[in-house]
Amino acid sequence: MSYKAVFEALWNDYVSLTPDAQKVHDLFTQAGETVLNDHIAFRTFDLPGIDVEALARPFLANGYVEKGQYHFESKKLFAKHYEHQTDPSAPRVFISQLLTGQLSPFVQQTAKACAAAIPAHMLQSDELIVAGNIWGKPSYTTYLKLRDESEYAAWLYVYGFRANHFTVNINALKVFDTIEKVNQHLKDNGFLLNTSGGEIKGTREELLQQSSTLAQITPIAFAEGTHEIPSCYYEFAIRYPDTDGKLYSGFIAKSADKIFESTDFYKK
Ligand code: NI
Repeated sequence: MSYKAVFEALWNDYVSLTPDAQKVHDLFTQAGETVLNDHIAFRTFDLPGIDVEALARPFLANGYVEKGQYHFESKKLFAKHYEHQTDPSAPRVFISQLLTGQLSPFVQQTAKACAAAIPAHMLQSDELIVAGNIWGKPSYTTYLKLRDESEYAAWLYVYGFRANHFTVNINALKVFDTIEKVNQHLKDNGFLLNTSGGEIKGTREELLQQSSTLAQITPIAFAEGTHEIPSCYYEFAIRYPDTDGKLYSGFIAKSADKIFESTDFYKK
């Protein structure tokens, strides 16, 4: 699969799971804007065959290279970001993994059971990255127990391998040319923003500012019946030039740390 086909498959999956994402996209295109994608993000466990390196494989095989590494100590996560070497319109790819060894035996066992349930041919396939939950119908009891310890683990257990979010590149917008204007437009149209650490994460001086919607509350079929839980969200990013005049291209760990909380549970 070419990386363009991968992004198309990810987008189709994303808007079918999270219809609000399509509404956010349309909100900007209907205002005459061109919506470009700054980055997409994946979540995984740090287990052999499905860790960051494994999920990065189809991108590395298609012209992407590793560009940055990030540590999230309190959330027990490690991440890398990748960029396409020659196609500046190709979105960055941000892949994080849960450091399961730092979590309870329950989380470790659940993660290992998920990994063990993946068919062997999927582990070698480029389709793994778009496969979603391939370990079977989740248990609501397990989901709640995971959420007590790691919201990240709980989300991953239910949704598996898919884009956790897409990101509107604010630099490519004409009318909504500041993150404040973007946020106001979202709020004016009834979207809820993640306010953890403030609506805007990062400063001009840090060269990257980000905001995000709260993940849409979505009915999910669990073994025990249907329950409504957060699914995916949309992020917004504006980048500023570094001293060399080029737009900063990396990520800021303390901002990303708060963006992760966009999938925290909340009451509709
Ligand atoms: Ni992001």
